Amino acid sequence: MNNERIFNLIDELLITNKPEQEKLKSICSILKEEVFHYDWVGFYILDKTQNSLLLGPYVGKPTDHTKIPVGKGVCGQVAQSCSTMVVQDVSNIDNYIACSIEVQSEIVVPIMRNNEFIAEIDIDSHAFAPFTNRDEELLETIASKIKGLF
Ligand code: SME
Repeated sequence: MNNERIFNLIDELLITNKPEQEKLKSICSILKEEVFHYDWVGFYILDKTQNSLLLGPYVGKPTDHTKIPVGKGVCGQVAQSCSTMVVQDVSNIDNYIACSIEVQSEIVVPIMRNNEFIAEIDIDSHAFAPFTNRDEELLETIASKIKGLF
């Protein structure tokens, strides 16, 4: 993975006048194509009235989990803690919502605006323990770049 190359691709995309939803979907595609160990990339967006996360644009296999209550699963926990969660082995944690048996690991990064949680980037991997600080740096920088899209 080449973080600088990915930042450039995203910067180029952000200055276009495509609709926000299209930009978000393109960001998912860029991440999935550029990083070998990313198999499912998507956004969950906070719906305050339902105290739940709603599935936004994504790439990868369709998921049944289109609505996740805050607090539930890895995604729901990040909505509460507002900090990145790295799960190197999903079989090790209890509060986990399985999407597919192929998924072995997951990283979820919060997207904050004005100190408030608004959405998150969720990435599933079929690899065991693939994530390093480079993933966190990559995704936290992207989260900050795209917070205006929600
Ligand atoms: N595994 C997530 C659910 C979302 S899917 O990975 C797309 C979780 O535990 O919150």
